[in-house]
Amino acid sequence: MSLRVAVVGSGPAGIYTAEALVKQSAGPVEVDVLERLPTPYGLVRYGVAPDHTSIKSIANYLQRVLELPQVRFLGGVTLGSEVSVDDLLACYDAVVYCTGAMVDRRMGIPGEDLVGSVAATDFVNWYCGHPDVSPDRFTLDSPEVAVIGVGNVAVDVVRVLAKTAEELSSTDVPDDVLARLADSQVKAIHMIGRRGPEHAKFTLKELRELGELANADVCVRPDEAVVLGGDFPRQVKGNIEVLRSWSERAPVGRPRRLDVRFWLRPVEILGTTRVEGLRLERTRLSQDGRVVGTGEFETLPVGMVLRSVGYQSVALPGVPFSSETMTVPNVEGRVRDREYVAGWLKRGPTGVIGTNKSDAAETVRTLLADDPHGRVASIDELLSARGVRPVTYEDWRAIEQAEASLARTLGRGERVKLVGLEAMLAACGRVTPAPP
Ligand SMILES: Cc1cc2nc3c(=O)[nH]c(=O)nc-3n(C[C@H](O)[C@H](O)[C@H](O)COP(=O)(O)OP(=O)(O)OC[C@H]3O[C@@H](n4cnc5c(N)ncnc54)[C@H](O)[C@@H]3O)c2cc1C
Ligand SMILES: NC(=O)c1ccc[n+]([C@@H]2O[C@H](COP(=O)([O-])OP(=O)(O)OC[C@H]3O[C@@H](n4cnc5c(N)ncnc54)[C@H](OP(=O)(O)O)[C@@H]3O)[C@@H](O)[C@H]2O)c1
Repeated sequence: MSLRVAVVGSGPAGIYTAEALVKQSAGPVEVDVLERLPTPYGLVRYGVAPDHTSIKSIANYLQRVLELPQVRFLGGVTLGSEVSVDDLLACYDAVVYCTGAMVDRRMGIPGEDLVGSVAATDFVNWYCGHPDVSPDRFTLDSPEVAVIGVGNVAVDVVRVLAKTAEELSSTDVPDDVLARLADSQVKAIHMIGRRGPEHAKFTLKELRELGELANADVCVRPDEAVVLGGDFPRQVKGNIEVLRSWSERAPVGRPRRLDVRFWLRPVEILGTTRVEGLRLERTRLSQDGRVVGTGEFETLPVGMVLRSVGYQSVALPGVPFSSETMTVPNVEGRVRDREYVAGWLKRGPTGVIGTNKSDAAETVRTLLADDPHGRVASIDELLSARGVRPVTYEDWRAIEQAEASLARTLGRGERVKLVGLEAMLAACGRVTPAPP
C-alpha cells in the first residue's frame, strides 16, 4: 500500500517537503499539498519583492514539483476551516504542517495601534497583491516615513517606497497598487536600527542595491557608521564597509532621500488619532550585550511608521504550539505520532528560500524512518460531502494565464497580479465574474 501524506501549506517548505517525499521514499508515495489560498508558493508569490524577479523565478522550480504525478495541489482548503487535524489523520498516513509565519511581531510601545502605524506584513501583502489586503488599504500621503528594523524585509519595503512607479511598472504589482505608488508623497525614508551596523540583519547584496537606487540619495551619519574593533564575518565586514562609504557620500538631489540610522530604538509613536511622529532613544550595548537607552532622545516628524521587526507563526487549531518560541515543538521535524512540521513554523521566521529545502529533507527523513500508517478514509469523499471543491493545479494555471493576459493588456511586464479571491476564482471559471 502506498504512503499518503498531507502537506499543509504550499510555500517553499511545503513544496520542498512534497519533493523530498517523492525523492526519498523507497516505496510508492502520494502527496496532497493543501493550501488555504487558490494559489501556491506562499511567500515566493506574496513576500519576495516584486522587483526581485530572478528570486521569484524559483516558482518555476516549485511548479515542476507540483507537476510530479505523485503530487496534487488542493487550493482553497484551510486547516482549521474546511478540514481539521482529525480529518487529516483519518485521510492520510501522515501530516506535515508547513504554514509559515503570517503575522507581525509587536514592538510593545505606546502608539503602536495608531492609524499610520503599519506592520510590514500588511504592507508587503499590499504591494504583493495578497487577497487578505485590499489595494486601497494604503495611501502614501506622508512626506516622511520611518521603517523600523534593519533586516532584509525592511530593505525590501524601503526599496519599494524609494522607487518610482515607472521603475516598478514591469513587475507583477497589482495595477491599483501601482497607481497608489505613483501618487506617493514620500520624500524622506528613515530606516532605523536599534543596534549598530555590525549587528544589522540585512545581507550585503540587498544592502548594496539600496546604494544603486536611481530615485533616492542614501545617507548614513558618519558617527553612526563607526564600528570599533572586532573580527567580523565577511558579510558583516562588507555591510560595515558599504555603510561607511555611504557616510562619505553627499546627496546629489535625487527626488527621495533614504537615511539609514543606527543605535536608535523606538520608544513611542506619537499622535492622537494617527501617527504624527516617532520618538527614538539613542542606545548602547550594556556589559552583558543588551540594548539599553542612554536617555538621549530625538523625534522624527513622520506620518507613517512601518514596523519591520520580524514575522511570527500562529498556532494551528489542534496542533501543539510553544508560546515561548512561537513554533511547533518538534524533534527533527516530528511533532507527535504521524504529525510533522517543516519551514518557518518549525524553526521560526528566519532563513532564505533554500534553507527550507534542507529543513524539509530532515523532516522527511524522520517521517520515512517512522514509516507511519493509519489512514481510514478518503479526503476526496470527505471534501465532497462538505461541498468543498478544491482549486486544482489546472485552475491555478488558468489564474496564471489570466495574470499574463492582464499584463499584455496593460502593457506591463510578464504578469500582473489579480487581486481578490473572487477575481482569481473567476479566472479559473469557479465563480461568475461580477459585472463591471
Ligand atoms: C517579505 C519577505 C520577503 C522575502 N524575500 C526573500 C527573498 O527575496 N529571497 C529568499 O531567499 N527568501 C526570502 N524570504 C524568506 C522566504 O520567503 C521564507 O524562507 C519561506 O517563504 C518560508 O517558507 P514556508 O513554506 O515555511 O512559509 P510560507 O512561504 O509563508 O508558506 C506558508 C503557506 O502556508 C499557507 N497556509 C497558512 N496557513 C494555512 C492553513 N491553516 N491551511 C492551509 N494553508 C495555510 C499560506 O497561505 C502559505 O502559502 C522572504 C520572506 C519575507 C517575509
Ligand atoms: N532578499 C532576501 O534574501 C530576503 C528578503 C526578505 C527576507 N529575507 C529573509 O527573511 C527572514 C526574515 O526577515 P526580517 O527582516 O523579517 O527579519 P530579521 O532578519 O530578523 O530582522 C528583523 C529586524 O528587526 C529588528 N527588531 C526586532 N525587534 C525590534 C524592536 N522591538 N525594535 C526595533 N527593532 C527590532 C531586529 O533588530 P535586532 O537584530 O536588534 O533584533 C532586526 O534588525 C530573514 O532570514 C531574511 O533574511 C530574505
